[in-house]
Parts: sequence; C-alpha cells; structure tokens
Amino acid sequence: MTRIHAAITGVGGYVPDYILTNKELETMVDTSDEWITTRTGIKERRILKGEGLGTSYMGIEAVKELLKKTNTDPREVDLIICATVTPDMMFPATANLIADGVGAVNSFGYDLSAACSGFIYALTTAAKFVESGQYKKVIVVGGDKMSSIINYEDRTTCIIFGDGCGAVMLEPVTEEVGVIDSIHRADGSGAAYLNMKAGGSRIPASHESVDKKLHYIYQEGATVFKFAVINMADICAEIMEKNKLTGDDIAWLVPHQANKRIIDATANRIGITDDKIMMNIASYGNTTAGTIPLLLWDYEKKLRKGDKLILAAFGGGFTWGAIYLIWAYDPK
Ligand code: UT7
Repeated sequence: MTRIHAAITGVGGYVPDYILTNKELETMVDTSDEWITTRTGIKERRILKGEGLGTSYMGIEAVKELLKKTNTDPREVDLIICATVTPDMMFPATANLIADGVGAVNSFGYDLSAACSGFIYALTTAAKFVESGQYKKVIVVGGDKMSSIINYEDRTTCIIFGDGCGAVMLEPVTEEVGVIDSIHRADGSGAAYLNMKAGGSRIPASHESVDKKLHYIYQEGATVFKFAVINMADICAEIMEKNKLTGDDIAWLVPHQANKRIIDATANRIGITDDKIMMNIASYGNTTAGTIPLLLWDYEKKLRKGDKLILAAFGGGFTWGAIYLIWAYDPK
C-alpha cells in the first residue's frame, strides 16, 4: 500500500515592526552589545506593541499570508494546531482565535504547549492527522509574544527573547517527501530551570504573585545551556543515524534559535557546515515556538524540492526533538 506522507506545501510568517536593538537594551539594563553578540549571536529582536494584541494577532497575519500563498480557501482548512506558551488567554485556545480571524469556519483547533519545542511537537502531531488520511489541510502555527512574559529589568532573560510567528500548511502526498521521521523527548525534572511560576493552577494570579515577579520567565541559563547543547546534538545524531544520513546528505539544518553557540555545537557534532545552517537569531532573537517556522519563512526561496532537512529544538519542560523532513516544492 502506498504510504501517505504529510508535506509542507507553504509557509507564512509575521514579525512585528518594532525593533528592539542591543543598543536600546543597553539603556534599560546593565549589558552591552558586545556581551549579547558574543554570548548569544543576537543583535536585535521584534516586539509586538499595541494595546490588547496577543499571539493570535501575529498568528492571524501569518496564516492569512499562508492561505494567500497556497491559494487556499479558509473554509477548506480541517485543523489548526497552535504551538505557544503565550496564548492570548488561558482559554479559549489561541488556535480557535486564529481560525476565527482567518475565516477557517470548518476547522477545529487546539493549542500545544511545549515551549521552544512546540513547533516540532505540533508538526509531528499534525503529520499524523494527515498521514492517517483523515484530514487534507492542516495548519501548524508556532509563535510567541515573549515580550508579554519578560521582565525588562532582568538582563539574563530580556536580551534573549523576541516576538514572532510562523505557520505552515501540511497536505497529503504519495511521493517520498514531507515529514519522514521524528524523535521527541521530554524530562519534567527540567521544569525547575526554565519556567513561569504563576498564572496557572498551582499559583493563581494574586497581588503577591505579581509583587514577587512570578509572572515572568525564570531561567537558569547556564544549566539550560548545558542540557540544550548535549540533547539537541544527540537527538540530531540519533535521527540521522536511524535514517542512515550523514552531514553530506543534509541540505539544511533548521535549529531552534536560542543561542548561536548551541546551534554551532549541534552542527559541528553532525558534520553540517556553516553554509547549511539556517540562522536568523541575529534579527529576531529567540521567539520560542516561532523560531523554526520563521526560519522556513526566511529561507523558503533557497529551498528546493528533494532537499533533506533536519529540524531540531530544545526548550522548557525540558522538551526536545528532531524531525527529518524532505522539502516538497521548488520556489514559486
Ligand atoms: O530557548 C529555550 C532554551 N533556552 C536556552 O537554550 C538558553 C540557554 N542558555 C543560554 O543561552 C546562556 O546560558 C545565556 C545566554 C542565557 C547566558 O550566557 P552564559 O554564557 O551562560 O552566561 P552566565 O549565565 O553563565 O553568566 C555569565 C556572566 C555572569 O556574571 P558573573 O557572575 O560571571 O560576574 C552574569 O551575571 O555574565 C553575566 N550576565 C550578563 N552580562 C552582561 C548575564 N547576563 C548578562 C547580560 N549582559 N545580559
């Protein structure tokens, strides 16, 4: 029997206009452009300004572009999965707000919470719906308004994160393209090192939780770095070995954009040269679930049908994983 594959057939994206540079951060906290650049590779990030605008605003813009580029009637969309840790509200799901905003009136949708690994978790999940034959047009959105949970007095986190959102369309194909394989892992004991403590059921919002700044990201950077650098490289090596791939076979490494040093170490471990690493961390910083779809968005014109890609991420949870994907179309 012919296996149905789930192929990415288009990419949309949105980043806000406002650019927060390292120079501006120098006026806000005790840091320097030189420290940020050498320790992370980040030069600037985008910030969503405007009263009442949440992640769905960026998701709607990204999906509108995606629908236009793929010439899709929104009424044909079956499912929208939105990977985010900064939903507009605890409920309803941001995916539902995006569906409403783009007129996807026949779709169902839900959010998926896996922090920086959110997009790859969601892509694997969405691929299963397509591969089963049940759904024909599934949209995966990855995006975060990280500025909504950042303490701009904390130099250890405010320099890293930015806002942005990307989206891809998944459709069934019988050719050997699309999502070929995936490996995902999680380790909840990592929750201690990267989290947002309040606002959930354990510590609901209160004056005290606000006073104690518990609604902001908390990260023990050096510890997270150690786990990220080992696990992201290991899981890439594992998926490549499983699929009998070497660095020479891979056209592009599509790594989560948390820190250029983590990306370089991963590429080095699996034998990928610099010219084959997708990288936009300098312009957007870490947009959490947004990094990987925004890379595909930025590099779409360079991608060719048949290109072999490794998508990889590590993030809060801890969560991590890698996807082996074969690109399905030439630039349009
Ligand atoms: O995407 C989700 C997963 N997250 C990640 O993968 C992030 C992983 N972690 C990292 O990328 C890095 O750990 C950071 C970029 C967050 C920090 O870099 P680091 O090289 O690990 O620095 P550190 O935390 O070990 O701090 C080194 C020094 C400290 O000063 P002392 O104690 O040596 O005097 C910090 O206080 O750098 C200081 N420092 C800063 N200095 C200037 C920390 N942040 C800053 C800053 N500007 N913004």
